[in-house]
Amino acid sequence: MMLRIENVLDKGSLDAVRRTIDAGPWVDGNETSGHQSRSAKRNRQLRQGCKEAAEAGRMVLDALGKAPEFVAAALPLKVFPPLFNRYAGGENFGAHVDNSIRQLAGSEFRIRSDLSATLFLEEPDAYDGGELVVEDLFGEHRVKLRAGDMVLYPASSLHRVTPVTEGTRTACFFWLQSMVRDDCEREQLYRLDRSVRVLTEERGPHDPVVLELTNLYHNLMRRWADA
Ligand code: NI
Repeated sequence: MMLRIENVLDKGSLDAVRRTIDAGPWVDGNETSGHQSRSAKRNRQLRQGCKEAAEAGRMVLDALGKAPEFVAAALPLKVFPPLFNRYAGGENFGAHVDNSIRQLAGSEFRIRSDLSATLFLEEPDAYDGGELVVEDLFGEHRVKLRAGDMVLYPASSLHRVTPVTEGTRTACFFWLQSMVRDDCEREQLYRLDRSVRVLTEERGPHDPVVLELTNLYHNLMRRWADA
């Protein structure tokens, strides 16, 4: 499932994140690359683990916790500390796969990457190119969102970022391990959850059908989720 989540960061948070990361140390983006992606990647990255990355990462995680669509769709169990990258002057990231297991350097923290996320931190008209292209069996999905908006997509997909030929593309990206490993099961839960929310608005939380469907949602979670 690919999903756009709008307004993860409001204007104030967006400005605060940008101010924080703009002041930080930017290094070669291959700092966090796996073996396959190393040769494909040409960009810059805020140094992993620096205080600016930690602070901006906390702001992003805070915002994600307050984004009900994100929580409902991703059912996050463990989120890798957010990273920040920049592309300019023709930089790009060729087709690659994200590592299935991510270990945080110097720690015990490890996740299975079920979902990848890109949170755009620059308005789309401020740069040319820089589309995130995600491939599935249907073909290519090209993504370039408003600043503050985010795309969630399966970490299992082949993807790339097209060259930024004018201006600078700044984004936050991260991976997460979901409570529900299987993409299809997670999508069904999200669709059910959305429908229950609509029905709850219409009929109230004590309606028998709302109760039955809410029960069904939780019973499917019990079958499919790790906590
Ligand atoms: Ni990637």
